[in-house]
Amino acid sequence: MKKTLTLLLMLSVFLTGNARERQLFDEGWKFLLADSAQMASPDYNDAHWRLLSLPHDWAIEGDFYAGNPSGAGGGALPGGIGWYRKTLNVSETDGVSYNIEFDGVYMNSTVYVNGRQVGYRPYGYSSFEYDITGFLNKGDNVIAVRVDNSDQPNSRWYSGCGIYRHVWLTQTAKTRVAHWGTYVTATPSKNGKRAVFDVEVEVENPQKGMTVVNILLDANGKELARKNASPKGQAMHSSMAINNPKLWSTQQPYIYKVRTEIRVGDKIVDVYETSTGVRSFRFDSKAGFSLNSVPMKLNGVCEHHDFGCFGAALNEDALHRKLLKLKQMGVNSIRSSHNPPAPELLNMCDTMGLIVMDESFDMWRRKKTQNDYARFFDEWHERDLTDLVKRDRNHPCILMWSIGNEVLEQWSSAEADTLTLEQANLILNAGHDASTLAKEGELSVNSLLTRHLAEIVKRLDTTRPVTAGCNEPNPNNHLFKSGAIDIIGFNYHHQWIKDVPVNFPGKPFIMTESVSALQTRGYYMMPSDSVYVAPKEWWLPYTDPSFMCSAYDNMHASWSSTHEETWDVVKHTPYVGGQYIWTGFDYIGEPTPYGFPARSSYFGIIDLAGFPKDVYYMYQSEWTQKPVLHLFPHWNWMPGQEIDMWCYYNNADEVELYINGKSQGRRVKKAHGEVAPGNSILNTEYHVGWRVKYEPGEVKVVARKAAVKNGYPEIVATQTIKTAGQPHHLRLTTDYKGKTTTFVNVEVVDKDGNLCPLAQDQVFFEVSDGMEIVGVDNGCQFSMERFKDNKRKAFFGKCMVALKGSGKLKARAVGLEDAEMEIF
Ligand code: GAL
Repeated sequence: MKKTLTLLLMLSVFLTGNARERQLFDEGWKFLLADSAQMASPDYNDAHWRLLSLPHDWAIEGDFYAGNPSGAGGGALPGGIGWYRKTLNVSETDGVSYNIEFDGVYMNSTVYVNGRQVGYRPYGYSSFEYDITGFLNKGDNVIAVRVDNSDQPNSRWYSGCGIYRHVWLTQTAKTRVAHWGTYVTATPSKNGKRAVFDVEVEVENPQKGMTVVNILLDANGKELARKNASPKGQAMHSSMAINNPKLWSTQQPYIYKVRTEIRVGDKIVDVYETSTGVRSFRFDSKAGFSLNSVPMKLNGVCEHHDFGCFGAALNEDALHRKLLKLKQMGVNSIRSSHNPPAPELLNMCDTMGLIVMDESFDMWRRKKTQNDYARFFDEWHERDLTDLVKRDRNHPCILMWSIGNEVLEQWSSAEADTLTLEQANLILNAGHDASTLAKEGELSVNSLLTRHLAEIVKRLDTTRPVTAGCNEPNPNNHLFKSGAIDIIGFNYHHQWIKDVPVNFPGKPFIMTESVSALQTRGYYMMPSDSVYVAPKEWWLPYTDPSFMCSAYDNMHASWSSTHEETWDVVKHTPYVGGQYIWTGFDYIGEPTPYGFPARSSYFGIIDLAGFPKDVYYMYQSEWTQKPVLHLFPHWNWMPGQEIDMWCYYNNADEVELYINGKSQGRRVKKAHGEVAPGNSILNTEYHVGWRVKYEPGEVKVVARKAAVKNGYPEIVATQTIKTAGQPHHLRLTTDYKGKTTTFVNVEVVDKDGNLCPLAQDQVFFEVSDGMEIVGVDNGCQFSMERFKDNKRKAFFGKCMVALKGSGKLKARAVGLEDAEMEIF
């Protein structure tokens, strides 16, 4: 028995001896923010360089400064040129392939091995891999990466600088599954009783006598089916079917895996795993969106890629915290605006049940900022778009591809149409000269370009529709005119939605981007029934000494709307498949309606530090079954001041407000159509309100069901806000505990523990050995304080500290009692 076991073990070692090893290659990099051609050389002395682990963003470590070339739109943080170096020791070179994979380097990266250039990649949001086998020697090898983000502005919005996502090193046999070399589709039958898994495998260096086996595994790793693949075109193909598949949905995101094995004789030379999920979906021109035949709205948000005080540097805990807060709000979909996301975002959306719109570009040939991707588009768009689709197409969470956001090619202009014949050939695979393109009955260059991009996508994935975020709602928009946009997507322009069935007959429709309301957590502009538009026109500067926007849902930009106004249209128009609100979280850059020193956005439903703004609860009350009762604002005003109290609620028939025990009246939300949202006021279909005179004490809201219990209507929830006294001590609570990072919220409270809603105390942090502060924030969009520091001012009573490791955290502020917390 013992002998057999040893033999089996030896056999399995032998069988898998050469199989793939994929490892994170993040540790032990040297970094310097400087530039010299010598830095590529293996002999260069980097002893004095800083040692760090990736992912890394050097911009977030810097100071805000009006003169930084990114400008306030890019977050007013530094750019520049930086180098990374790392030694790789290789013991085996015979018969082995070494590949280095970068999930994202912003931007213009050049990779060298032992002083020889391996590759160059301009687009900072693309993932890429280099085969470095031919560059390596036995023993030590030096990998050097030059990152050039000196020509700014080049991104909307904050991009970060450096190797800001993971790096991987993969060691395989020469015969291997190619990079992103599988394509798995999992199609359920009409009645959902059966599913067919089609697997295509691209093999690099195929050998005689090689077999490719695909094995289907359930979520527990149990084998469900296996099939040898046979050649189909350039790839090897298997088809496997199972009965009673578990479907992937937003409620139960079930994941299957396909394990691909390449065998030569008895030996397994490569093993590659691909996750997949079984689901059907439909975008319908009349009924909107459905998943697995269940009609639903896409309750989506646009997310830009930064993580507040982490900058662009990927941190899985920060990402998970973000997605969790959104999911708890009722969000079921994410748009990766306006660029390819980190692979980890897609992995998490797969397992958390969040649908994704995967977006490729914010510009095509015509630039939006001085040094943006437009300058690389002609040469690189095919490669970047191909890589995006190949990298991402197996994710069940992705249900559509966006080939662009508000690209200027929606309109013709002399600049856009002045293609040389050469360029047109290169880009469009069609010999159209600009002078021939404007003619009646022909497609414009811009429409041809749209088709060309959609074709790149369809060549690689036929299972998902193509869309684009369009802020020109007219059907003569060149993108729409191309006929290549499967789902009509408007950015804003909700007033045009009523005309969609006439303007786009038979076409499904979504709001690819919506709302853009402006809010600062904790700041309230009254009267709340006035809607403040800022700026009034997009070109008109807006100034206000507060540098804040109103957290009632009563402020937005000229092209946008309040939250309620757009949601009302989406909710009540059956053919609207859903919307992607700009944005879920605040992000660094684009501080509309202000300029510097404002440096991060006001559009988020959640602020940059992770504190929900009030409107979070409006969506939660509409999009989830979770009981919601949210009364705001705070209760610290001038005696006699007239205050508007708003309340979001659900699962109740009425709410009643009391000030120091005196009723201020009952309220019931209005029925649909009773008042026009946006102009309305204190009572809409989505919130109720009271205009009251402030007196110190307490304000309380009681939510009741109509049903009578023990002679009284049943109270289902209450909320009380008390007038806070003087700041007395600090309160620490764990906001989120991840695998390596803990987010701790800090509140300034009075002696009874009431939040002091106007407190601005400077909070200092101390940590014990074994713990490190990785960032601080308070959600203030115009704070000039550094994100990497051991102190932060409270903003409307709150701030946040993010920590790595375990140990003791101490928070102190002048004149207040300290607070301590143990993190395990
Ligand atoms: C859109 C654009 C976004 C953001 C937003 C702000 O036009 O796509 O990137 O700028 O406006 O409202």
